[in-house]
Amino acid sequence: MDFPAAAPAISLETAGDIAQREALLDLAFGRAARLAKTSERLREGRLPAEGLAFAAHGPDGRLVGTLRLWHVSAGPAKPALLLGPLAVHPWFRSLGLGRAMMTTAINEAARLGHGAILLVGDAPYYARFGFSTAPTRELWMPGPFERDRFLGLELAPGALAGARGLVNATGAMAATPSLRELIARETAAVSFDESLKRSA
Ligand SMILES: CC(C)(COP(=O)(O)OP(=O)(O)OC[C@H]1O[C@@H](n2cnc3c(N)ncnc32)[C@H](O)[C@@H]1OP(=O)(O)O)[C@@H](O)C(=O)NCCC(=O)NCCS
Repeated sequence: MDFPAAAPAISLETAGDIAQREALLDLAFGRAARLAKTSERLREGRLPAEGLAFAAHGPDGRLVGTLRLWHVSAGPAKPALLLGPLAVHPWFRSLGLGRAMMTTAINEAARLGHGAILLVGDAPYYARFGFSTAPTRELWMPGPFERDRFLGLELAPGALAGARGLVNATGAMAATPSLRELIARETAAVSFDESLKRSA
């Protein structure tokens, strides 16, 4: 199936995307459920990896896709990236946008010299990009996780060889937002959320 209009453009996320991104993630996963995920423990309070936070905008400029990658250690002294969350607006699904965002992210991570990517997600979806459980057999997430959904991909051969132990967050800490920023984000998220719900 092709995009009915121009295909959404994938670019690096900017600060102006934050409120719409949060609303899209709430729509895709549910707020409480997504914030309860063990992967979130490796993301909260951290900045995504430099140059690896992507946004897709539809023809009207609204955010319709999001994907970010995060610095982690795959056991002691094994640098890797954690991928997620990936979400596409319901109106834009099954048109290849998820694939385009994944391909962009994987290629860009490789270009930037990263050796490996981990994620927790649906293996039937991520297998098409080369992810499997093989590289994560001796790794543990820092909380509950389903082993058959804990996947890895080596960008550099052997980057996860011998990876054993706990996955830790290693990304730079994010600045704590001011009260003013929090209120502004919430107000923007509520209005975007309403428009998403009307269009979903
Ligand atoms: C998963 C998601 C990002 C895919 O985005 P998308 O733009 O629809 O992806 P694509 O168009 O590249 O691929 C669509 C294909 O993937 C399949 N697919 C979608 N989600 C899948 C899943 N969880 N498991 C297996 N296959 C899946 C679709 O059935 C479709 O198959 P087809 O090509 O044979 O028709 C999107 O469905 C979404 O945002 N889902 C809700 C959030 C989510 O679950 N995110 C992470 C998945 S763990």
